[in-house]
Amino acid sequence: SKMSRQYRPSVHFTPPAGFMNDPNGLIFDGAQYHLYYQHNPDAAFSANICWGHAISTDLLNWKDQPIAVPATIDGQAYTGCAVLDRDNSSGLFPNAHGTNIAALYTRSLPTRQSQYLAVSTNNGQSFEEYQGNPVLDIGSPNFRDPQVFFHEPTRKWVMALAEVEKHQIGFYGSIDLIHWTHLSNFGPAGLPTVNYECPNLIQIRDEHGALHWVLFVSINPGSPMGGSVTQYFIGEFDGAVFTPSDAILRLTDFAKDAYAMQVYSGLQPGEAVTFAWMGNWQYCQELPTQDWRGAMSLPRRLSIRQDPNGYPRLVQTPMNIEKLRRTLLCEKAAYLPKGAHRDISLPTGRAIELVIRLKVDESFQTDPAISGPEINRFEIAFANDAGEKLSVGYDVPSAQIWLDRSKLRGFDHPFYTGRFATPINTALYPDARMLDLHLFLDGCAFEIYANEHLETGTALVYPSKPLDMLRLKADGIGVTIDHFELYTLDKTMC
Ligand code: FRU
Repeated sequence: SKMSRQYRPSVHFTPPAGFMNDPNGLIFDGAQYHLYYQHNPDAAFSANICWGHAISTDLLNWKDQPIAVPATIDGQAYTGCAVLDRDNSSGLFPNAHGTNIAALYTRSLPTRQSQYLAVSTNNGQSFEEYQGNPVLDIGSPNFRDPQVFFHEPTRKWVMALAEVEKHQIGFYGSIDLIHWTHLSNFGPAGLPTVNYECPNLIQIRDEHGALHWVLFVSINPGSPMGGSVTQYFIGEFDGAVFTPSDAILRLTDFAKDAYAMQVYSGLQPGEAVTFAWMGNWQYCQELPTQDWRGAMSLPRRLSIRQDPNGYPRLVQTPMNIEKLRRTLLCEKAAYLPKGAHRDISLPTGRAIELVIRLKVDESFQTDPAISGPEINRFEIAFANDAGEKLSVGYDVPSAQIWLDRSKLRGFDHPFYTGRFATPINTALYPDARMLDLHLFLDGCAFEIYANEHLETGTALVYPSKPLDMLRLKADGIGVTIDHFELYTLDKTMC
């Protein structure tokens, strides 16, 4: 339909048809990036889940591939990972050279979830199941989403997976990807929640070059914003036990449409490249696109910054988009006086990127009779002549960044809530008068990265008509726009 087309992003990955949720088997094989994903090719809801597949050299231009792991009599092919078995530790590859891609994933039946191993001898195009499957089964109906990596110091494979209803992440070890022994459990920890899913334990480099162990745990439902969200813990991993170094509650996103984040394997140690699924289990099967549903975030590079108090903080940076940019407008140093606004018309049907850095004036309205949430703020709105708008902005008195999709009318659902906000990180971004925003609007996919990418907001957006106007608005406070870049992003097609 026309709506389905209007909402389909152009640079965010979407399935050719049907339903998509979690990214799976993310692996760089030395030449290509693989993106496998939870997929129902036949209908736009979750059923008969298999692994869809696409390949790319830049994480943005994708070539769709045939289904890589089908649903079978042993169950649906649920979330899992892929690793390079370089030395043929499993003995399942014809030789120790070449692209030995092994997949480890969950086979899901109503009564049982167990972990399967499969190997590919054709560069990840298709997989052959190991004859002795399952490789890990504890008799549980809620035991899933293995992520595997090679732990050099202890010379073994480590698997993290979710003990979904026990609110634990289990760690298992193996020397051959086939025989797994239990190492430890982590949790419950962090937010109280119903289900733990999709753990990822990875090392991420900070600005001084030091590596930090980070454990991502997707939880659903249990997000403070409602439904699904990804929380993360920073700490130590000794090859058996993960120990968080503090009790800080950390979420990867301040909105509600980034879930099941997975990191690429096959990269250099400390290099963390990820996709998150843009979705939330509260409404992902009812979104207003009929022939396809589900999008991936932009590819994001993760890094860590130490704040002056010694707390590590996650930074998420969208990758490789520079090559797709076509400049619409590029300006420096413009002043927008208090009460003023500026309108810029936008092309439709193309992805839009906006980079903006600004500083609000020293003094703002403090009279409580007239100040309030609508007064002392700078707003960026994507709007149309049907009176709809998608806005982001900065509320100066509370030092909060917000995202508001409540004035869009293309999707109505009780859990599709409208407004999200996050305080700025004053430890790492101490001047509360400064703000930098990096925004992407691409069909139904909207992403905000704020303040040197320290804050990330990911939201699905459904206007009833395209948003073809950009409005910058200084409410009750003057704003100096130091830097302004506006682009369309056009695929290069490799
Ligand atoms: C997370 C999840 C996983 C599961 C998959 C099923 O979104 O529920 O736990 O493996 O999706 O599609």
